[in-house]
Amino acid sequence: MCGIVGYVGGREAAPVLLDGLRRLEYRGYDSAGLAVLEEDGSMAVRKRAGKLEELARAIEGAWPKGNIGIGHTRWATHGRPTDANAHPVADCTGQVLVVHNGIIENYRPLKESLQGRGHRFQTETDTEVIAHLVEEGLGRGLPLAQATRQAVSCLQGANAVLVMARHCPQGLVAARLGNAGGVVVGLGEGECLVASDLPALLPYTRRVLFLSGGEMAEITREGACLSTLAGEPVSRQAVEVPYDPLSVAKGPYKHFMLKEIMEQPECVLDTLRGRVDFEGMRVELEDVHLSPEVLSRLRRVVLVGMGTSYHAALVGRHYMEAIARLPAEAENASEFRYRDPLVGPETLVVAVTQSGETVDTLAAMEEARRKGCALAAVCNVIGSQASRMADAVVYTRCGLEVGVCSTKTFTASLVVLYLLACYLAQARGVQPPEALSSLLSPLARLPYLLGEVTERAGEYERLAHTFYRYSNFLYLGRGVQYPIALEGALKLKEVSYIHAEGYPAGEMKHGPIALIDQDMPVVAIAVRDPLYDKMRNNLEQVKAREGRLIVLASEGDEEMARLADYPLHVPDASPLLLPVLTAVPLQFFAYYIAVRRGCDVDQPRNLAKTVTVE
Ligand code: AGP
Repeated sequence: MCGIVGYVGGREAAPVLLDGLRRLEYRGYDSAGLAVLEEDGSMAVRKRAGKLEELARAIEGAWPKGNIGIGHTRWATHGRPTDANAHPVADCTGQVLVVHNGIIENYRPLKESLQGRGHRFQTETDTEVIAHLVEEGLGRGLPLAQATRQAVSCLQGANAVLVMARHCPQGLVAARLGNAGGVVVGLGEGECLVASDLPALLPYTRRVLFLSGGEMAEITREGACLSTLAGEPVSRQAVEVPYDPLSVAKGPYKHFMLKEIMEQPECVLDTLRGRVDFEGMRVELEDVHLSPEVLSRLRRVVLVGMGTSYHAALVGRHYMEAIARLPAEAENASEFRYRDPLVGPETLVVAVTQSGETVDTLAAMEEARRKGCALAAVCNVIGSQASRMADAVVYTRCGLEVGVCSTKTFTASLVVLYLLACYLAQARGVQPPEALSSLLSPLARLPYLLGEVTERAGEYERLAHTFYRYSNFLYLGRGVQYPIALEGALKLKEVSYIHAEGYPAGEMKHGPIALIDQDMPVVAIAVRDPLYDKMRNNLEQVKAREGRLIVLASEGDEEMARLADYPLHVPDASPLLLPVLTAVPLQFFAYYIAVRRGCDVDQPRNLAKTVTVE
C-alpha cells in the first residue's frame, strides 16, 4: 500500500514526481504529497488530503523549483488521512523528510523513547519516528546513508523508506526492510529515479534495479549504490524491463479495468507463447528448474494466495489433481502462514500472486521454505520478491495491471497453473502421451475463444443495466466453476460495493436457499461439464422458489436458456479450461454495474492494488 517516488537529475523534479504519483495512485489515494530540495537549500513541501488531484491543484502555478525530490500517495494505516499526516513527513527541525510504505510495528516504544530525548511530534503517523531517528544520526555527524541505515535498523516490520535531507543535495537514500513494499531504482541518462513500482519509472527508463528486503540504495544522478543494512556492498546487474509506457495508458478505454478485461485474449496468447510445443505436444517452462530428485519426491501440492489469486489457486487445485495427479489443496496465505502447516520436502507450495509483493503470500512462502518445501510462484511482475524467492517461476505475461481489481492476471494465472500441472504430469510421467496431447491441444484455441467472449461486451452491459439497483447477489458454481462463482462475487463487491456471496451450488439446500426471493438475483455458472446435470437440478430448486436466475451457459444450450430468466453464453471448451472463459462475463457484469452506479472503478474505496501490510 502507498506509493513512493523519488527523483535526482537534470529535470525539474516536481513534475516528474507528480507524474510518478499519478502512475502509482492505484496503491493508495487518501492523501498525497511531494517535496523538492530548492536551490537555496530550503525544502519545499506540498501535501494534501484527498486524491492526487487535490495536490495537483495546490501546486498548479506555484511549482517548487529544484532537481531532487520525493513524493508519496498514501493509504492510511496510522493517523487519519489529513494534510498533516500526508507524506513527506519531517523531523522537528525540518532537516529531514521521509516517505514511507509499511507499518512500523514497534513505533510506540520508538516514539516514546524519542519523546524522552526531547523530540516533538507533529503528525499521528508511525513514519515520523524515521525522520527523527535520521535527524539524530545527522546530528551525530553521520552521512545521510549511514544515518538512514542506523534509523531503519531500529524498525520492526516490513517497510520501504525514502529519505531526503536539507544538507545532502547530492542524492536520496532508499531502504527496504522485509519482503513487503517494493523498491525499484530506475537508471536513466544523468538521472536516477526510485519508486514502489515500475509504472512511475517507465516514461524515463526501462533499466532498473530491484531492491531485496534488508537492502538500501544511495541514489544520485550518476546511479545507485546498493548495500545491505549491515553495510555490506551489494553488486547487482540492472535488468531491462520489457514494459512499454504506452501499455499503462488507458488508450481508448474509459477505465483501466475495461481495458484490462479486453486485453485478455492477447494476454493468454502471450502467456502461452513458446511454452507449448503443439507439434511434439510438450510443455516447456523456461524458469522452472525443479530437479528430477525434487520432482520424484513430490507427494502433494499446496497452493496459496490472497483475494483473486486465492481463487486462482482454488482452480489450480483441480488442475493439480486432475492433470498432475497429485493430491492438492488451496489455502488462503494469511491462514497458512500462522497455522504451523504439516508440509515438508515432499510438498510443492505454489504461490499465486500478481504483484509478487503481497505480504501474506510472501510470509506463506517463507514458512514453506523454512519447512523445506519446493517453492513455485505464479506471478505477473518480473523480478518481484515472490519471483526471487521461488525455485520455479512461471510468469503471466499480462504487462502491467493498473486497475485495482485484478482481471487479466486472473485468467492468465489460470492458464499458467494449467501449464504447470501439465508440466508436472509430463515430468513425472503420470499422463500417457495421448492424454497429455488432449490436455494441451485445446490451449491453442483458447485466445480465440476468449476473443469471442470479449466481443459480447454489449450483452453484459445490457444485463448490468437491468440489475444495477439490486443490493444483494448470490453466485453459484460447482467443481472447477465454484472458484469462479467466488471470483464473480468478489469482483462485484470490490467495484460496485454491492453485497455478493459465492457458494458451491450443492450447499444451497443447507442454508442459503432461505435467502432466495425476487430481490436476490442468482448468478449461476452452468456450462457443459461433468457436473452439468447436478447444477441444473440445483437451479431448478432456485427457480421453484421464484429466484431470478442469470445463467452463464454453454453456447447452444437450449435447456438452460429456457430455465434461465437471463441466459448468457460462452463458447464450448474443454471443461478444465472453461473457467478461463466463464470468469470474463462476470468481470464485465461487475464493471458495467459499477459504472452505472457511478463508482470509482479503477480505485475502489478502501482498497489498494498491492497489499504490503497485514
Ligand atoms: C482482486 O481484484 C484484488 N486486487 C485482490 O484481491 C488481489 O487479488 C490480492 O490482493 C492479491 O494480490 P496479488 O495477486 O498481487 O498477490
